Amino acid sequence: MTLRFTVSATDGAARRGRLETAHGAIDTPAFMPVGTAATVKAMTPEAVVETGAQIILGNTYHLMLRPSAERVAKLGGLHRFMNWPGPILTDSGGFQVMSLSQLNKVSEAGVSFQSHIDGAKYDLTPERSIEIQHLLDATITMQLDECVKLPADDKRVSEAMQLSLRWAERCKTAFKLRDGYGLFGIVQGGTNGALREQSAKGLIKTGFDGYAVGGLAVGETQAEMFATLDVTTPHLPQDRPRYLMGVGKPSDLVGAVQRGIDMFDCVMPTRSGRNGQAFTRRGTINIRNARHAEDPRPIDEHCRCPACRNYSRAYVHHLVRSDEILGSMLMTAHNLTYYQDVMQGLRAAIAEGRLEAFAAGFHAGEASGDI
Ligand code: GUN
Ligand code: ZN
Repeated sequence: MTLRFTVSATDGAARRGRLETAHGAIDTPAFMPVGTAATVKAMTPEAVVETGAQIILGNTYHLMLRPSAERVAKLGGLHRFMNWPGPILTDSGGFQVMSLSQLNKVSEAGVSFQSHIDGAKYDLTPERSIEIQHLLDATITMQLDECVKLPADDKRVSEAMQLSLRWAERCKTAFKLRDGYGLFGIVQGGTNGALREQSAKGLIKTGFDGYAVGGLAVGETQAEMFATLDVTTPHLPQDRPRYLMGVGKPSDLVGAVQRGIDMFDCVMPTRSGRNGQAFTRRGTINIRNARHAEDPRPIDEHCRCPACRNYSRAYVHHLVRSDEILGSMLMTAHNLTYYQDVMQGLRAAIAEGRLEAFAAGFHAGEASGDI
């Protein structure tokens, strides 16, 4: 095995683990801040470390367009380029092609698309996606897959899942083994349990260092997402990390950990933070709201982040309303710190066998509302 994963405690389906990589260890369950374009927006890497994050996510799609994988490789790889020496997981590009690029064609060979930046044409095959992720020096490489927006009929979902299985094999063949680096497969199959099982079994046969659950948080309800996890994680190996892609809000993380997920990424804390939404122990607030205009208290009285230690709601309200860069910085630092503290709470609760009580307390806090 090129990535060592050890589970030190379980509580129901939830697992407390540690993933050891060439760039450092990751305590799981873990949340990965999104650093799409070789930056976690509005944060220096030093500030990201302060939040408690041990791994970040980068995107093949954005980096292949600008500044290009070859240029990043020439400059010593993504870790050195952006001054993040820790582990980096890169997404494979397929998902971003579907959601961001101009025109796109999916064939057996791969995806072709036009850049959302300048309209230039690109082909992305499973082999090229792996090559790009190698050039970036990704610690964890993701297979190229096809993700279908929901709702969709079973035939469409099944075809995308089978294509993703064939691409998974090609990615495995193209992937160069190196100590401390790994390749993850991606389970597809929409909300259909039989398709999810077929996908998981196919990937396991090929063999991966970890297994992602893709194709969720694409238009279904939280109940549907949880029901899908209930019929998916039981088919995944106990001794490999499981990664739920693109999820989610804090209650999604808690529910998914209870269903056996170990890793997450989502733009929500960063993107919605820049937009004025703050996550707190008493639910979400919009700092732009007039009721915060003269409030001397911090965003969250229990938060250890630089925004909450040093600045009032009134000041952050003013910054965000004025579109000041510092507003984005403080809001992002706060939200990422909150997410990391939720993960830390989950890890401690699993280790101590009190996850159910932790989840109940978490939901009660969210429901209590901001005062
Ligand atoms: N990010 C969120 N969902 C997905 C998915 O299904 N596939 C990939 N590659 N990335 C994702
Ligand atoms: Zn804070």
